[in-house]
Amino acid sequence: MDVAIFGASGATGTLLVERCLTLGYKVTALLRSPEKFPLRDKVRVVHGSAFESASVRDTVIGADVVLSALGASSLRKEDVLERAVPQIITAMQDTSALPKPSRRLIVLGSAGALKTSLDKQPAWRRWIVQNLVYNTFLKWPVVSQISQWNNLSESNLDWTMVMPPVLTNGPGRHVYRIDGDALPRNGSRISREDVADFMMEQIGSTQWVRKGVYISW
Ligand SMILES: NC(=O)c1ccc[n+]([C@@H]2O[C@H](COP(=O)([O-])OP(=O)(O)OC[C@H]3O[C@@H](n4cnc5c(N)ncnc54)[C@H](OP(=O)(O)O)[C@@H]3O)[C@@H](O)[C@H]2O)c1
Repeated sequence: MDVAIFGASGATGTLLVERCLTLGYKVTALLRSPEKFPLRDKVRVVHGSAFESASVRDTVIGADVVLSALGASSLRKEDVLERAVPQIITAMQDTSALPKPSRRLIVLGSAGALKTSLDKQPAWRRWIVQNLVYNTFLKWPVVSQISQWNNLSESNLDWTMVMPPVLTNGPGRHVYRIDGDALPRNGSRISREDVADFMMEQIGSTQWVRKGVYISW
């Protein structure tokens, strides 16, 4: 299995790389600073940015599956997903004429990308999260995730957008709730370990193709 990974050097991306290597998959990682990535000798490195079409194309060529755990480095307006996701989609669609097309794209998104995200929350919690978190504190990350959702929805790829609430760095519990309609009731956090495991499971599954899926403890 050849897997291309965007955001490989990030907190969740590194977990994805580790899991792919454990399974014996060949990994291609697009890295802005390869010298800082401890696993660089174990992957095919494409040195560049996800904003550059040539680098993105070089990353996805030959991949059976493309994973993305891209994200901004702050809560300010950085437009990382706004700029990178269209590049990834275009590159994957452009290679569709090649003998080994890359159609499967599994991305890390976020609860809050869709207006229905909070439909299963108690009213008080829905009000607080929508007004005091999504509309204010997380305004720009949410805007970016909406953009990611819209770009995926408009593509013809076999995409899946995994949508967690707050991510933690603790160990995985290996037990979590998933829901295709809205964030599970009172779901407020989940570890990156569990999210990475779930993203890896999607490589061999068609259950959530062309869909978003919420995941939470
Ligand atoms: N934090 C949370 O609680 C939370 C909750 C729900 C969803 N999410 C979403 O989860 C995603 C990832 O989160 P995370 O904390 O695991 O990520 P992270 O540690 O912030 O890593 C982000 C990754 O994106 C890469 N990146 C950014 N811009 C790039 C560019 N132009 N070209 C190439 N690579 C680029 C970074 O590379 P460099 O190493 O070069 O910087 C890094 O590898 C984000 O989209 C975030 O919105 C986060």
